[in-house]
Amino acid sequence: MCGIVGYVGNEQAAPILLDGLERLEYRGYDSAGLAVCGEHGGLTVKKTKGRLQVLREMTHDGADQPGCTGIGHTRWATHGVPNDVNAHPHVSQSGHIAVVHNGIIENYAEIRRELTEKGYHFQSETDTEVVAQLLDYFYQDCNDIFEAVVRMIHTVDGAYALGIVCADCPDRLIAARKDAPLLLGYGKDCNFIASDVTAIIRHTRDITYMEDGEMAVVEGDSIRIYNSQLQPVEKKHYYIDWEIDAAEKGGYDHFMLKEIFEQPVAIRKAIAPRIQGGKVVLRDLKMTPEEIRHIRKIFIIACGSSYHVGMVGKYNLERMLRKSVEVVLASEFRYSDPIVGPEDLVIVISQSGETLDTMAALREAKKRGARILSIVNVVGSSIARESDDVLYTWAGPEIAVATTKAYSTQMAVLNLVGLYFADVMGTMLKSDYDEVVKGLQEIPGKMESILSRVDDIKAIAKECAGHENVFFIGRNVDYALSLEGSLKLKEISYIHSEAYASGELKHGTISLIEDGTLVIALSTYGPLFDKAMSNVVEVQARGACVLALTTDSHRAEMEKAVPMLLTISDIQEMLLPQLGVVPLQLLAYYMALERGCDIDKPRNLAKSVTVE
Ligand code: AGP
Repeated sequence: MCGIVGYVGNEQAAPILLDGLERLEYRGYDSAGLAVCGEHGGLTVKKTKGRLQVLREMTHDGADQPGCTGIGHTRWATHGVPNDVNAHPHVSQSGHIAVVHNGIIENYAEIRRELTEKGYHFQSETDTEVVAQLLDYFYQDCNDIFEAVVRMIHTVDGAYALGIVCADCPDRLIAARKDAPLLLGYGKDCNFIASDVTAIIRHTRDITYMEDGEMAVVEGDSIRIYNSQLQPVEKKHYYIDWEIDAAEKGGYDHFMLKEIFEQPVAIRKAIAPRIQGGKVVLRDLKMTPEEIRHIRKIFIIACGSSYHVGMVGKYNLERMLRKSVEVVLASEFRYSDPIVGPEDLVIVISQSGETLDTMAALREAKKRGARILSIVNVVGSSIARESDDVLYTWAGPEIAVATTKAYSTQMAVLNLVGLYFADVMGTMLKSDYDEVVKGLQEIPGKMESILSRVDDIKAIAKECAGHENVFFIGRNVDYALSLEGSLKLKEISYIHSEAYASGELKHGTISLIEDGTLVIALSTYGPLFDKAMSNVVEVQARGACVLALTTDSHRAEMEKAVPMLLTISDIQEMLLPQLGVVPLQLLAYYMALERGCDIDKPRNLAKSVTVE
């Protein structure tokens, strides 16, 4: 999604903004631009379609834009095709005001019509340009940029994170937020605005998150924040303790590969402090044992890969708690008039903590009285702040659009929640509980062993990369895992891929299997191994070429049946997807690499989906 960065201080703004935008590249974008308040009045605006390198060349790494106050933007097109004109910043007709925006102005067509009648000429097809022209309109009247922003905000509907500069007050940025992430960074003799912390972490670790309805006046030596009633507000500061290296590639060809290899460490960080003396201890959970015992039903709400974690969670939590668990796509939940109330627990899963659909579903559930427990990676993000309880995954920054370590740590934390609740509810045999706890602690080591065999997976990926259609099949937790394996493959390699519960094949999909079709048969789940074998035979009889994923204990049997095999160590059944996902991530990565794809920034995708 769009990325925003803004700087005001004593140094030249443009190079700092370009550096910040580079760090936001992972969010996905199709064009980029800068607006800087000139040293001798006026604004300089440079923007272009394409990669940031083009903007760098156009501005000579920012040198062509003198001035110490500016805003930068990477755009991910929603209204209007990706081109130079639609790129941000958008400038008002008078040329005095420039705006960068993340979100969607829903009533833009109506505002555009009204302003056109008043003599405004629009250059772009974007919803954002109405913000710039509306500000111009109000500014002509009041000659005060803050007042103009207040009036503009009362006129627009929709979602926005906004950065605004005005040539008449060149030492100031104005920021505003509603339903799109924006944070403020406190530097030394300078201050920042940014969509996320990676953009400014080189300059400051002292930040605060803006809330919906807030506005900020940012100057080099102060930041004043106001709520929607225009009262000044004091805000909690967060200290960001990520290593800068964590947001850089560190010798790997891609962030995705680096993040795949970071999984053992990430899982250790997520679980080690939460297991003490063989028991799960969730000190960060405020829910009382009494409240846990009285949960009627559990909902898990998320999007994309986070939803796939929820699918594994359904199998595991129902097994651990003998309680009904419903997994719902956030985008469906919010409009489904959900039957959820004060007696229910809603577990919200999100890496970014900013996914708009997930946020909206959370609010819907909260409005109906449900208790919200979120599992989130980004500390202080919107979803984390609006939840009753938050369990952080502590995976560090995830830069590649295709999630890997966030998926794994979300699943580990969800398993911890299951164990903790089972202990409180008394729903698990001690021996089973102990086995899962022990298994969780073994995951990092077993993941390392899979990662050490990366060359085998690379070789198989090479053989498979030419296929244009792939089917993933599995039962139980293997089915849940197949959803993620398939998504990973399609999002970065652009190979058409589908995931099916193996038992469903005969009900239609099997008609698509023909000579040479690649079927990836996930057969790690021991209790249903024989059934998985039958499905392998079934698709092979129709000509399929099968790549199987199974455990060491089933290797010998599976080896006899299929031409290509991946294996993982045996582990407690509920934890199989924690290991099984690693070869599937690597398979997708190397298949995409073979096909020459832009792995970290796949086409049409954004890291943080902050629009509906
Ligand atoms: C998966 O690789 C994607 N990045 C995507 O499906 C992602 O999981 C989804 O958009 C949800 O994001 P969130 O976890 O930040 O809410």
